[in-house]
Amino acid sequence: MNKFRVFIPNKILGNAVDYLKQYVDVDYIPVEDMLSSKEFLAHVSQADGLMIPSRNKITKTVLEQAPHLKAVCNMAVGFDNLDLKALTDRGIYATNAPGVLTETTADLAFGLLLATARRIPEADEFVQQGQWLGWKPSMLLGHEVHGQTLGIIGYGRIGRAIARRAVGFDMQVLYNDQVRNQEEEARYGTTFAERDELIKNSDFVLLQVPLTPETKGIIGAREFGLMKKNAIFINASRGQVIDQNALTQALAEEKIAAAGLDTYIDEPIKPNDPLVQMKNVVTLPHIGSATLETRTAMESIAAKNMIQIFNGGIPDNLVNEKLRTK
Ligand code: GLV
Repeated sequence: MNKFRVFIPNKILGNAVDYLKQYVDVDYIPVEDMLSSKEFLAHVSQADGLMIPSRNKITKTVLEQAPHLKAVCNMAVGFDNLDLKALTDRGIYATNAPGVLTETTADLAFGLLLATARRIPEADEFVQQGQWLGWKPSMLLGHEVHGQTLGIIGYGRIGRAIARRAVGFDMQVLYNDQVRNQEEEARYGTTFAERDELIKNSDFVLLQVPLTPETKGIIGAREFGLMKKNAIFINASRGQVIDQNALTQALAEEKIAAAGLDTYIDEPIKPNDPLVQMKNVVTLPHIGSATLETRTAMESIAAKNMIQIFNGGIPDNLVNEKLRTK
């Protein structure tokens, strides 16, 4: 194979670099922090392939500086960091890393639900700060989880994996998606609901949709207004799928009880943001897929897609479908 050059702008946790090196030249910068835009672009300008996490945005401006680029392989299931139209127009293959992070991300989302409902981070802080001076009848009272209704908006792989966990906790599960999944309904006893019905009737409203033009801002002031007053809102998908100011306002006006968030409109969220300051909001730093096993598997999928492309094939996880018949 002609030696293509693949740029990786961050530390790799598994053996994907050694795997790639068997086939291509690898320009690998093993850092945790994000490179400066200048440094990133300098490497991109020499690259035939990019293997990147979702924090790296591939915009038209970036592409203007990437004359050789043929492949962008995301080490993430989401691919909203990519200007897919611009990539497709240039004939550059783009791939994502689905499947391997489903269960891990569902674990985190369900953990976030439990943590928010039962105030676990607040309770930990309470003990650490020496505030636990003895038993009190209403100390750190939380919300019930078992027996409650969980409404999941977005019933893809991760949404369904969350539903299975909820069923194990004796929750009733409502879900909403573009398509009904009657097989899952029959297997797990979950129920399809129109979006507004789900929002009105759920004790927990959980979003698990990819960020697309159709899902941007799907939960805003109107939707928070429809929720139960004791509803808990959970989002571990993408920040932009909700109106974050409307969430802040709904919490401030006690239109809903609490929220658990792993993703935000701007990441990292600032420590002085009202959402971070509110006691009834659990804020995590976008760690849905953050286990060594899962991150390593995501790297491997991205590397495999990259080599499939440079071998002249169609990668397993192509996301710009128009290039399938290029
Ligand atoms: C993480 O957010 C991912 O899209 O994989």
